[in-house]
Amino acid sequence: MWIGLVFCCTIAFVTGGLPPQANYIAELLRDQTSSTRVSDNIIEDATLDLPNLVRKYNYPLEEHSVTTEDGYILGLHRIPHGRDSNNRPGNKPVVFLMHGLLSSSADFLVMGPGSSLAYILAEEGYDVWMGNARGNYFSRRHRRLNPDALLNTAFWEFSWDEIGNKDLPAMIDFVLQRTRKSALHYIGFSQGTTVFFVMASLRPEYNKKIISMQAMAPVAYMRHNSSPLLNALAPFARRIEEMAGRRGIAEFLGKRPIYTKIGKEFCMDGAETQALCSEVIFFIAGNSGEGQHNATMLPVILGHYPAGIALRQAAHYGQAIAGGDFRRYDHGPVVNRRIYGFAVPPRYDLSRVSAPVYLHYSETDPLADLRDVERLFRELGNVAGRLRVKPRVFSHVDFVWGVDAKTLVYNSIIGSMRRRDRQN
Ligand SMILES: *[C@@H]1O[C@H](CO)[C@@H](O)[C@H](O)[C@H]1NC(C)=O
Repeated sequence: MWIGLVFCCTIAFVTGGLPPQANYIAELLRDQTSSTRVSDNIIEDATLDLPNLVRKYNYPLEEHSVTTEDGYILGLHRIPHGRDSNNRPGNKPVVFLMHGLLSSSADFLVMGPGSSLAYILAEEGYDVWMGNARGNYFSRRHRRLNPDALLNTAFWEFSWDEIGNKDLPAMIDFVLQRTRKSALHYIGFSQGTTVFFVMASLRPEYNKKIISMQAMAPVAYMRHNSSPLLNALAPFARRIEEMAGRRGIAEFLGKRPIYTKIGKEFCMDGAETQALCSEVIFFIAGNSGEGQHNATMLPVILGHYPAGIALRQAAHYGQAIAGGDFRRYDHGPVVNRRIYGFAVPPRYDLSRVSAPVYLHYSETDPLADLRDVERLFRELGNVAGRLRVKPRVFSHVDFVWGVDAKTLVYNSIIGSMRRRDRQN
């Protein structure tokens, strides 16, 4: 039954939220379940948009936008200084954070001050910038193309290849220009690491703009991954994308008010359905390690996640799973020949990644399996550190949502960044 329910919910996500009748039912249920609400703050944090969530906690937040060479308009968030310590603007080292698949800058903010990475870095004296990949809630704009066009999916014709090749360089150049720096620290989570490896191998001139690259739950090779959602999709990756394209669907799990509503109605502490909410999140994002999942925070998570991707991003990961290699997107032999000059898409050459990379990984991450991380380690051009999270049970999403992420991961990231800063 769980599987069935999870499946239904996933289908509802895939087809763009629930039908209008379901909205109506959720509306009705709202009045019935209001007595199960525990904390007003959870509701408020789930409902506020991200910039106002940050401001609610008295942190400064700036919003910026950057246009890529191919016309995508990306939203950047910045916390220029801390609230309690280092709480004055000034000449601070710059750190750029890049989120995971289906997510947004919310990855570094939703768990709140003292827990989420962006706040912690601001308190530690860093000027914190957060990117958003084309197509997500904050970057769903283009000079000419309309993301909501019916029958025309041109806006959505990209995978994480373009995010690494075009979005990251545009955002990094913008941040360096604004802060008048020549280099910055980069911290990526999951897809945020994939796109870095894409950039640093396709556009190696960007390596010198990176003081250190901190890779949390690094994903390049995926042969051994065990994500339920991606593995279910992998064998059909191209077919799904083609079928979806013909029906004019190319966006996947875009941010919609219904998720916030579901979060608030069904995932609150005290709601009988809270366990189901955890299951759905785990199906989509992967399991959590023992003791790392804070179910109380589910409504807040669902207020900001998922934030949307192009179906082709999932398809590209599907190809990485099915093929076992780290290659550019496979459009099929005819188009491949036109774009890459070969029938088979070329490999990303990881030996060209010359920026110092610190790999932060765990023994039980189903999406960044030890064997795949080991291969990445062997092939990267300049690995400066390998930091395995101590407890055995620490999972993929725990790097951003885990109760102990600060002590188990963030402190060692900050330690390695500081050592680099002292050398510079
Ligand atoms: C879970 O989140 C709630 C709400 O933010 C918080 O009060 C609680 O301390 C958290 N639990 C753990 C174990 O961190």
